[in-house]
Formats: sequence, C-alpha cells, structure tokens
Amino acid sequence: MQSAGKLMKVFITRRIPQEGLKILSAAGVCEASQWDSDEPVPRAELLKGIQGAHGLLCLLSDKIDAEVLEAAGPNLKVISTLSVGFDHLAIDEIKKRGIRVGYTPDVLTDATAELTVALLLATARRLPEGVEEVKNGGWSSWKPLWLCGYGLSGSTVGVIGLGRIGMAIAQRLMPFGVKRLLYSGRTAKPHAAEVNGEFVPLDTLVSESDFIVVSCSLTPETQGLCDKSFFSKMKPTAVFINTSRGAVVNQEHLYEALSSGQIAAAGLDVTTPEPLPTNHQLLTLKNCVVLPHIGSATYSTRGVMSALAARNLLGGLQGTDMPSELTL
Ligand code: NDP
Ligand code: DGY
Repeated sequence: MQSAGKLMKVFITRRIPQEGLKILSAAGVCEASQWDSDEPVPRAELLKGIQGAHGLLCLLSDKIDAEVLEAAGPNLKVISTLSVGFDHLAIDEIKKRGIRVGYTPDVLTDATAELTVALLLATARRLPEGVEEVKNGGWSSWKPLWLCGYGLSGSTVGVIGLGRIGMAIAQRLMPFGVKRLLYSGRTAKPHAAEVNGEFVPLDTLVSESDFIVVSCSLTPETQGLCDKSFFSKMKPTAVFINTSRGAVVNQEHLYEALSSGQIAAAGLDVTTPEPLPTNHQLLTLKNCVVLPHIGSATYSTRGVMSALAARNLLGGLQGTDMPSELTL
C-alpha cells in the first residue's frame, strides 16, 4: 500500500486509470493512499485505510456501510464512486452524517448500451455456441436446422427501466427493425416518444416481449423482480438480458426457466455473486451467456469515469460543486 502524507487525506480502494490520479495530484489539495492492486481491497485494509480520511474514492465492489463510516470518523466529507450504480453505498447512513456523494452517470451510457446490444445479439444468435462448435469440430456442414436463434426484425422489445442506459439501448435497437418498444418503470418518460416507447404495466411487458432488457437500478423494489412468476409469464421463445445488477434476478428461478425451456435464452453481464463461481449451475447451460460485468469497459470510458470520479472527489473535499453529485 502506498503511504499517505499531509493535506487532506484520501483513500482510493483500487488501481484506477491514470486520468483520475493525475487530476488529484495536480490539484495539490489532498494526499492519496491507494490500495494499489487490480483486486478488491480486503475489508480489514479498507477499515484501516479510511481512518481519518476526508475523502474516499471507491468502486461498486466496496460495500460502504456504517462500519466503514465509523472507521473513517468525523473527517469524512465525500464519497466518490467510480460507477453510476450506488446500491453498494448505505445512503441513509451517509446522509445522516452529512457526507456528499459523487458518481459517474452519462459518461458510461454509450459503452454500456453498446455492450447490452452486443450481449443481446450474442445470446439471441447463439454466438458463443457457434464459436465453440467451430473449435471443437462440431461444424460438419451448413445445416438448415442448426444453431438457429431469434432476430430483432419485427420483434417486440421490453426495456425494464428506461433511464439513461435503457433509453440508449432502445435507440440502438430500433434501427434493427423492432416493431414495438415497451417499457416499464415507476413513471412514464417523455423522452420515450423518440423511440415510440409504450409505457406498460410490467406484466404486459413480460408477456408480450420477444426480448426483455433489464436496465433499472437496484433498489429494494427491484431486488428479485425477475423471479419464478416473472419467467413463467415470458414467451417460451423470448430472450432475457440483464445489464443492471445481478440481484434484480432470482438466479435459481432463472436456471429453472432456462433448463426447462420455459424461456429461450438469457444473457447476463451482472450476477450474484460477482465473480460467479465457475461451478455455478448457470454456467452449465448453453442457452445462458454470462459476461464478467464489462458494460462500461472501454478504455476511453474508464478513463473518463476516473477523471469524473476525481473531480467529484475534489469538489467534495473543497466544498465546491461536483460535476456529478448524487442527490441524497
Ligand atoms: P438511471 O437512473 O438513468 O435509470 C435507472 C432506471 O431504473 C430509471 O429509469 C428508473 O425508472 C428505473 N427504475 C427504478 N425503479 C424501478 C422499478 N421499480 N421498476 C422498473 N424500473 C425502475 O440510471 P442509468 O440508466 O444510468 O443506470 C442504470 C443502472 O445500470 C445502474 O444503476 C447500474 O446498476 C447499471 N449499470 C450497469 C453497468 C454494467 O457494467 N453492466 C454499467 C452502468 C450501469 P423510474 O425513473 O421510472 O423510476
Ligand atoms: C456502474 O457504473 O454502475 C457499472 O456497473 C460499472 O460501470
């Protein structure tokens, strides 16, 4: 671990792109200590590293709860997370202590929407299976009935959570010839008109969609939303995609739905837990494509996220505006 010095003390929980570190060091207002590794900071090191810190730059894999806030003590002014999702932060505890929170919306929307489209197409057109067959000699000839999947043209797509990313996904899917775009959430969205989006009850979305894309935030309301009853209402030919958070899905129920043929296929960029154990039952299924939470993983996006997280941190340390402050 690198050592911290004077000035305001900041703890960074992981190795992050240089863009953010350069901004912090150029500002000259804080001295950072960092868990200088690509792997998560062990809890004990987090509790030690944060002691007396004025600022914390953390990741979605760091659970920031009352214990961490207590360990930090009264200096802590700001938590800047290198993510748009903030379900890993105990917001009530943070708010109670008057700590400000910065996050990284917008800058990762395009990258995450692109990845979601890639995952949808890979799952629906069975790309991982096809690649595997080429390698293992299963490709014997062009066969009319082999490796057929489902296409977007003329289909109905249902987006659960037409927020920034959900909307960007819809905009990218419409040019594939999607016939109807349904969406559900807490409120109808005026911007849905751009994609001819129809605001419908969740049950309607689930039963009428050929492709269901989950892009909502994880909240107590969305936790376990996609369960046995949800999957039982889907068409047997429908494809399920989740790039939001793993906990929105009941994975045991998803496994049953996929293995029994109740639904056609699933593509997941997020799971519970992360990483998903290599012996997990979902990984035994050909009709389930699992990615290692890479929605925002382009070089440029991660660089911009790092810079934004650093600017948010500085705003919180200096008591000035943050470029992206979460309203608590
Ligand atoms: P937004 O806040 O813009 O969108 C979240 C959406 O979730 C809103 O439209 C909201 O709808 C919806 N929502 C909230 N509660 C419900 C509910 N009960 N039912 C249905 N929809 C609901 O966030 P972003 O689009 O920027 O990000 C969304 C999420 O994507 C993040 O929270 C994060 O978890 C995940 N993410 C994953 C990435 C990856 O790498 N796979 C990368 C980036 C983000 P309403 O306004 O109607 O409540
Ligand atoms: C987020 O930002 O919430 C993603 O899950 C990772 O970019």
